[in-house]
Amino acid sequence: MSVDVVVGLQWGDEGKGKISYVLSRGAEAVARFQGGANAGHTVKIGETRYKFNMLPAGCLAGPRPVIASGCLLDPEAFEKELQLLQTSGHRHQPLVSMGAHIVLPMHRELDGRLESLRGSSAVGTTRRGIGPAYADKMLRVGIRVGDLLSRRSLGEKVEFLRRLHGVEPGVDFEKLEKLLRPFAGNVQGFLNEVVESGGRVLLEGAQGTLLDIDHGTYPYVTSSNTISANGFVSTGLPISRKGQIIGVTKAYTTRVGAGPFPTEITGPTAETIREKGGEYGTTTGRPRRIGWLDIPALRYACMVNGVDTVAVTKSDVLSGLPTVKACVRYVVDGVETNCFGDFLHRLDEVQPVYEEFRGWSVDEDGLRRAVEKGWDELPPNLREYLEWLEKQLRVNISIASVGEEASLTVTRR
Ligand code: GDP
Ligand code: IMO
Ligand code: MG
Repeated sequence: MSVDVVVGLQWGDEGKGKISYVLSRGAEAVARFQGGANAGHTVKIGETRYKFNMLPAGCLAGPRPVIASGCLLDPEAFEKELQLLQTSGHRHQPLVSMGAHIVLPMHRELDGRLESLRGSSAVGTTRRGIGPAYADKMLRVGIRVGDLLSRRSLGEKVEFLRRLHGVEPGVDFEKLEKLLRPFAGNVQGFLNEVVESGGRVLLEGAQGTLLDIDHGTYPYVTSSNTISANGFVSTGLPISRKGQIIGVTKAYTTRVGAGPFPTEITGPTAETIREKGGEYGTTTGRPRRIGWLDIPALRYACMVNGVDTVAVTKSDVLSGLPTVKACVRYVVDGVETNCFGDFLHRLDEVQPVYEEFRGWSVDEDGLRRAVEKGWDELPPNLREYLEWLEKQLRVNISIASVGEEASLTVTRR
């Protein structure tokens, strides 16, 4: 069997958690492959909202949760989510890669200091220690899950970090070892074996394509590669096992933190969308910035991920608006362009050109009908918008998520 990857096509919070949950049914394993507790993935099942920062949200559908080598393991978030798994009746033990680097309290402190130092050009990080922990990884001085268990030169490593950063690591390694020992293992071996024996693996991306350290809006990005290819790099699954790459986008755009956002809107429409869509960060509670859909950016995101199929979420949030807009190209230096990649380095200078669509209205009953009977039951104006989007992206849309609850999902047959 093959390896499917769910990735965000925008600046995060596209609804990857919910889509991963929907697509994780029947999978043997679901893995996070980058980032740490900066992610916030929510899945609502019935009346219960499950919020994950560290484990892949898709595991609620049954598969074994895995944290791959390219992730940062945040012990506090991990411990909290072990309890969440228990209360949800999950039956698998999570598996954590020996190669995952551990985020120490020191990294959070350094993250805060860096942000303060940057002053008005602060990135607006989640302050979960992500940048500093990945920096230590690249400096080859980080502490990995494997180091903790083997205890090999752990004391020296910690002392080195203390000297390097001038900050107390602030962690009880014995306690940490006790916490992680039962879960640490060989992720590469496990996942490859699952695939070889015919099982399906899903890789659950965190953040979004435009927050990718190489392909996003640097420096207003996170410190890892968020795109699909990193799913293979981080897990040790060979790219020859690639199945479907599923790109997730909202029916509009949001962004948390600083950085350019060409289609950003403010005012009453933005307020309506923010309130209706609950657009406040899962991890930090910050209000998310709101904007219309950005076709050049989405096309770029589909390209760099090699997206095979798209899932569009939260079209229900736009319900009731008289019109809905989408940016189809930009004007830069008086010239029109639809190439996002050419202007990635000066995105703050582009002016969006919009196309306008008639809005749609959906009520709970209408949504249920669409879920039961399928795509053709979606409101005609919404269908028109989605089919237009599909033509713009030149990728098929196979899933429309039309409500927060997990079952409010229309799969196109
Ligand atoms: P992620 O980081 O990409 O997993 O997304 P988040 O979980 O941070 O943010 C998406 C939010 O929207 C969560 O609260 C989801 O429960 C919710 N959500 C997902 N899909 C839909 C949808 O189709 N409609 C509505 N109204 N909410 C949704
Ligand atoms: P999910 O997985 C939205 C943003 C932060 C900041 C930048 C860098 O829920 O989509 P970091 O703490 O990573 O150093 O912050 O990235 N950011 C996210 N925005 N969703 C996320 O994750 C994010 N993770 C980080 O707001 O702008
Ligand atoms: Mg999120």
